[in-house]
Amino acid sequence: QHCIILGAPVDSGQSNPGCLMGPASYRVAGLASALEELGCTVQDQGDVAPRPANAAACNNPAVHSLPETIAWTEALSAAAQDAASQGFPIFLGGDHSLSLGTVAGVAAHARAMNRSLFVLWLDAHSDFHTPMTTGSGNLHGTPVAYISGRSDFDSFPPFPDPVPAERICLFGIRSVDPAERTALGEHGITPVDMRELDERGFVAPLRAFLDQVRAANGMLHVSLDVDFLDPAIAPAVGTTVPGGATFREAHLVMEMLHEARLATSLDLVELNPFLDERGRTARLMVDLTASLMGRKVFDRTNRTS
Ligand code: ARG
Ligand code: MN
Ligand code: MN
Ligand code: MN
Repeated sequence: QHCIILGAPVDSGQSNPGCLMGPASYRVAGLASALEELGCTVQDQGDVAPRPANAAACNNPAVHSLPETIAWTEALSAAAQDAASQGFPIFLGGDHSLSLGTVAGVAAHARAMNRSLFVLWLDAHSDFHTPMTTGSGNLHGTPVAYISGRSDFDSFPPFPDPVPAERICLFGIRSVDPAERTALGEHGITPVDMRELDERGFVAPLRAFLDQVRAANGMLHVSLDVDFLDPAIAPAVGTTVPGGATFREAHLVMEMLHEARLATSLDLVELNPFLDERGRTARLMVDLTASLMGRKVFDRTNRTS
């Protein structure tokens, strides 16, 4: 694999400063050398810079940092499309609003390649607000709505080829606002929530989604929010929610993704190094990325179940 590392020090999508230090933290935690040890070639293209922000307004007074977030979306979309055409992009966040741009970029690339894009959203939250429905005004709660082609993103670049509901898998979900729940239902998106994962385990629901990606010869973008993980193992995030994925569950997800060999791009988002404990969350995210790229205890193909 040729991995392209791109820093996205986005801090405008929420109100707890620190995510802009994320890319530096992943680099210090040894992301590039971990990938090289797996036999990947690694090109760190440095950090993306936002476009200059233009005035933009929204009728919801709660929304903040709209012009900055649009400026990031434009810059990241262009950078992501470019990187996706050269290799496997790994986007180092930055808060989750960066996915407004990265997913737009990989969607444009998928369209150019005549492939279908699938999205695996590993998160405590559904991030299905629009700028009009968000109560917090934090635009990191909106990218799945943008990717789905919901309206009320007027000041943003139009999303290339909105991703239909059946190609989006929201996985690990355990915090959904009322407006999001209604809109998810209207949109036909049924998250794989923690209730379902507790009952069925992680393997069956993930495998079912991966089978769909494979059957469609799709491209697969994975967006990993730190708060997918349990706060006990991943404290460095502003929006912790109890009951997250354990260390072993999270590695299992990544190992299954590697074995399926379907992932084509990755976001690492919401790490706030200012809230970390001696780098442990950054290190865990690096280790999870290594599992996704092929680190394993034994290389056995054809594991069943
Ligand atoms: N639903 C909440 C909100 O809109 C939380 C969003 C959290 N999103 C995230 N990317 N961590 O404010
Ligand atoms: Mn999120
Ligand atoms: Mn989240
Ligand atoms: Mn909200």
